[in-house]
Amino acid sequence: MIALVTGAYRGLGLETVKQLAEKSYTVILTGRNDEKGESAAKALREQGNEVFYRNLDVNDLEQIQKLHDFIAEKFGHLDVLVNNAGIHYDSGHDVTNPDWSIVQEATETNFIGAWKLSAGLLPLLKKSDAGKIVNVSSGAGSLQDMSPGTPAYSASKAAMNVLTIQLADALKGDNIKVNAVCPGWVRTDMGGDAAPRSVEEGAIGIVWAATLDENGPTGGFYRDGKPINW
Ligand SMILES: NC(=O)c1ccc[n+]([C@@H]2O[C@H](COP(=O)([O-])OP(=O)(O)OC[C@H]3O[C@@H](n4cnc5c(N)ncnc54)[C@H](OP(=O)(O)O)[C@@H]3O)[C@@H](O)[C@H]2O)c1
Repeated sequence: MIALVTGAYRGLGLETVKQLAEKSYTVILTGRNDEKGESAAKALREQGNEVFYRNLDVNDLEQIQKLHDFIAEKFGHLDVLVNNAGIHYDSGHDVTNPDWSIVQEATETNFIGAWKLSAGLLPLLKKSDAGKIVNVSSGAGSLQDMSPGTPAYSASKAAMNVLTIQLADALKGDNIKVNAVCPGWVRTDMGGDAAPRSVEEGAIGIVWAATLDENGPTGGFYRDGKPINW
């Protein structure tokens, strides 16, 4: 089984790669920094895992095409895509006086990048016997629980949730499950030291959605494998 994780040389992405590799997935660890990516992949290979590094900024359509071609040539298909790359938890920012560069970058990475990559790799996911797309979202993007606390981040994750519903519906006939997952508040560079959850705990729900069996759900929003409010 072949899996790909974005933004994966640190934080939840790296832990998701580890947990998938431990389940005997061949994992393509992607990221924007070759030195950090190669070194993270090498460390996992030295522990006996099958992990490849590829350069990927999720906003870059040329890199997405190159990645598509690499996977097509080497594996012929893709079973799991984890859209984990995320940026700008803009707490303390003001929705009435936003920083447009933050709004733009959060939207491009957290929403449009996940969309570009999902669309770009779809031909390979369609060749899987049972494809999965996992959108690493956040409770901050829940419309029912929406507050103006993190304006750019929340809007981008709400949009990612829309993408989840639309893709899940569009891909039902292709046997590809698409779900959004909130990992909870996790101790990473983004989550900070005060967060109650370890990366190991946070990644469990992501890996759950990546490894669902044929009876598993599609088009839902989950934390710890349980549905949460859109
Ligand atoms: N930590 C939490 O409490 C929490 C809660 C809910 C949801 N999440 C979500 O979980 C995911 C992982 O977050 P994390 O906590 O592990 O954060 P993190 O440690 O800050 O890691 C984020 C990763 O995304 C990468 N990234 C950012 N922009 C990118 C782009 N354009 N292309 C490719 N990679 C890019 C970063 O790479 P660079 O080093 O190159 O910037 C980094 O590897 C995010 O989607 C986040 O929104 C986290």
